[in-house]
Amino acid sequence: MLKGKMAVITGASRGIGRAIASKMAQNGANIAIVYFENELAAEEVRFLAESCGVKAVSYQCNVADWNDSKKVCERIISDFRQVDILVNNAGIIKDNLLLRMSEGDFDSVIEVNLKGAFNFIRHLSRSIIKSSAGRIINITSVSGIMGNPGQANYSASKAGMIGLTKAVAKEYAGKKVTCNAIAPGLIATDMTLAMPDNVKDHICANIPLGRIGTVDEVASAAVFFASDWSAYITGEVIRVDGGLCI
Ligand code: NAI
Repeated sequence: MLKGKMAVITGASRGIGRAIASKMAQNGANIAIVYFENELAAEEVRFLAESCGVKAVSYQCNVADWNDSKKVCERIISDFRQVDILVNNAGIIKDNLLLRMSEGDFDSVIEVNLKGAFNFIRHLSRSIIKSSAGRIINITSVSGIMGNPGQANYSASKAGMIGLTKAVAKEYAGKKVTCNAIAPGLIATDMTLAMPDNVKDHICANIPLGRIGTVDEVASAAVFFASDWSAYITGEVIRVDGGLCI
């Protein structure tokens, strides 16, 4: 489905990012695995991708840092010559009630989730525009659609990503580049593992499909947006949330 394409995935060493990187490699895409801390985990993803017969390289990067992102994007373009697909997946949470939320916790969540996506779009745009079918996919959250108590910083960052998605979709439509977003609901990853069971049970009770989602289900939506099957879709936000937001 993605044979011969080249995809950059941020936050790809674990969780949803790892599943997207693996599924894109299984579908024939060469991949750049952008990771923050865990080199060993990133190398494991690289090894798995290479076993699918594609080219894969891992890159350490703090997506929130403009210069670091620029350097890594330049290395990716030099290593692969062409970028067709960008998945902005790297993200963090620093939940707290607004009255207790520090300025630092607000800023860092916006900087990683929202500015990180901007940095990568900005630094890879020229290459993506040269592709015959460029694709930008932003991993937002239902929290950015509904707003969640205790997540003012996170909800704001993810709502910001939806605005970013729509603006880029309009700006790049003339260049045949689509930009879409995926809004996962509650997905089983390290990020959600830390949540207390009673909170997860409460959310599950409100999910019409009655269960937590899997990383593979989010990755399937990402492959769809990366493929030719979604060529006439741009500026869209697909919820992968078991109906939580209905
Ligand atoms: P995770 O915590 O397992 O993975 C996040 C990844 O981002 C990690 O690999 C981490 O190293 C990387 N990262 C964090 N800060 C970074 C930085 N400054 N620079 C580069 N990389 C950085 O989380 P998960 O669950 O896989 O989440 C992936 C994305 O999906 C995130 O954007 C998250 O907000 C979003 N999401 C997750 C949901 C869930 O239920 N797990 C629900 C809705 C959205």
